[in-house]
Amino acid sequence: MSGFEGFPGDTFAGRRVYHGKVREVIDNGDQLLLVTTDRISAFDRPLGSLAGKGEILNQMALWWFRQTSDLIANHIVAEVSPRAVAVKKAKVVPVEVVVRAYLTGSAWKSYSAGQTLPGLEVPGFGDSKALHIHQKLPQPMITPTTKEAVGEHDLPISRADLVSSGRVTAQLWAQIEQAALALFHRGTEVLAQRGLILVDTKYEFGLVDDELLIVDEMHTPDCSRFWFAEDYSLAISAGSEPRKLDKEYLRQWLAGQGFTGNGEVPIIPAEVFAQTLARYSQAYELITGQKWVTSGLDSQAETARLLSYLS
Ligand SMILES: Nc1ncnc2c1ncn2[C@@H]1O[C@H](COP(=O)(O)OP(=O)(O)OP(=O)(O)O)[C@@H](O)[C@H]1O
Ligand SMILES: [Mg+2]
Repeated sequence: MSGFEGFPGDTFAGRRVYHGKVREVIDNGDQLLLVTTDRISAFDRPLGSLAGKGEILNQMALWWFRQTSDLIANHIVAEVSPRAVAVKKAKVVPVEVVVRAYLTGSAWKSYSAGQTLPGLEVPGFGDSKALHIHQKLPQPMITPTTKEAVGEHDLPISRADLVSSGRVTAQLWAQIEQAALALFHRGTEVLAQRGLILVDTKYEFGLVDDELLIVDEMHTPDCSRFWFAEDYSLAISAGSEPRKLDKEYLRQWLAGQGFTGNGEVPIIPAEVFAQTLARYSQAYELITGQKWVTSGLDSQAETARLLSYLS
């Protein structure tokens, strides 16, 4: 199934284009156009495109920016097309601000390997029998990682090293932590009303004229884990996996084909792509409480909108 995979080459209408993993970033002076493509990856490998995914992600992030605008200013200037927004070009703080409320994913990996994880100050860490997988942490905790160039792995980093490496001042970091925890708290509350758990997420912040802004995206299935609250306790006491509302469907299908990131990517049938897309629209509907309606705008019509915004 084909979708919007992005722009070829490194310019669009004479502007420089940076190709992120998911977004095309068009440089328009003191603004950027962020165009969310349909590109999808799993196990850090690109898997082609899932027609419609970009639109859902962009609309979901916009919804969250509106839900949280009383907490912190965000980068949004205008909605240009269903999958594109004009944003204030910020000086992005080179830190991925990961907030976790549960011991899962890479935090569980570190813990079960007997390693520590900067920011995860939980009693029992270091004693590999004290904690169990997927358990709730005493409170949401920030485990920052560096933001490395494309192709490099982001690495966990301590607060002290963030400051001593010059990535961020102590004062700015304090402000970022406060904002991240407030956003996470809001996200948790909103999702609880929908029967969902905000397990963990990643924020990016930036500065425009010394004002701190939340940038990039927020609380989407690409940057967050969501679990169904209803059967969480049961799953944990039964020692099974919590029911997830994220890319897990596709990951499990791939794993069932023997693919977990290495070797050749199996050919993914149209039906599996369709089921994956259905999860994205289900996430949109559950989270926003609104029915998902695709704009039906094809790439050509969408490109025309971008061009008209830029002209
Ligand atoms: N307001 C903003 N000002 C400047 N840069 C921004 C802003 N919002 C997002 N970005 C940057 O634009 C890019 C968005 O692309 P995308 O989300 O595809 O990237 P990514 O996969 O998160 O990371 P990478 O850039 O490593 O590919 C990111 O590098 C992000 O930091
Ligand atoms: Mg991103």
